[in-house]
Amino acid sequence: MTTQPLLELQHVDTYYGPVQVHFDLNVRVLHGEIVCLLGGNASGKSTTMKLILGLVKPRAGHVFFNGVEISGMATPQIIRLGMGSVPEARRIFSNMTVRENLLMGAYHRRDRQAVNDDYERMLALFPRLKERLGQRGGVLSGGEQQMLAIGRALMGRPRMICMDEPTMGLSPAFVERVLELIQTINQQGTTIFMVEQNANLALQIAHRGYVLQNGHIVLEGAAAELLDSRAIQDAYLGGQGT
Ligand SMILES: Nc1ncnc2c1ncn2[C@@H]1O[C@H](COP(=O)(O)OP(=O)(O)O)[C@@H](O)[C@H]1O
Ligand SMILES: [Mg+2]
Repeated sequence: MTTQPLLELQHVDTYYGPVQVHFDLNVRVLHGEIVCLLGGNASGKSTTMKLILGLVKPRAGHVFFNGVEISGMATPQIIRLGMGSVPEARRIFSNMTVRENLLMGAYHRRDRQAVNDDYERMLALFPRLKERLGQRGGVLSGGEQQMLAIGRALMGRPRMICMDEPTMGLSPAFVERVLELIQTINQQGTTIFMVEQNANLALQIAHRGYVLQNGHIVLEGAAAELLDSRAIQDAYLGGQGT
């Protein structure tokens, strides 16, 4: 790990028209980390993803990725810098085949041979997708679509992947598999920034976490500390923990 964060949000304020969504947001993700952004409904989690991906511009503050200011950049430019995304509700291309969906993740790459190698790696990583390469994305189960969305993101060879509620709506068995997969991907060198409503799940695999409440970061810390804190559980995470 180097000391310069891979991703840094500095004093970010975000608005939709007159409505302020983020208030002085400060978030850092270091190389190699899994960092989760926790918070209830409408706290501004997805807007944070959109901000990082260039879909929403901050009205104040800065977003840096790998040392480059990306606030104000267009999404394709940010992706070319090494950002990957697994958006909310997966957003796979339902009329395209599994194979086409995977290859779409590499649309901006010119290194054909390496793309082919990565495609083969994806088939090894996702045997379930390998069996369904010719099927349309839309006919896959929710869990399979999530695998496909993650595989598609990996096909871009990103430095970092942002994931918006990757376990939402999945069966318990698929939730476990997706969490294991995120850990595997991270161990293979990809930094992860994930948004989750389910704090107890996210903190099982994350190194650090931030808690967002009505657009303010109200807590941050090591995942183990956040998980262990009774006060935090009660106040922010729904009291499902210890
Ligand atoms: N495109 C939009 N236009 C106006 N308001 C929005 C838009 N998207 C989200 N919001 C509002 O911004 C707030 C934060 O939304 P969001 O970032 O989606 O929260 P979360 O992902 O934590 O549920 C909510 O109050 C939501 O209604
Ligand atoms: Mg959301």
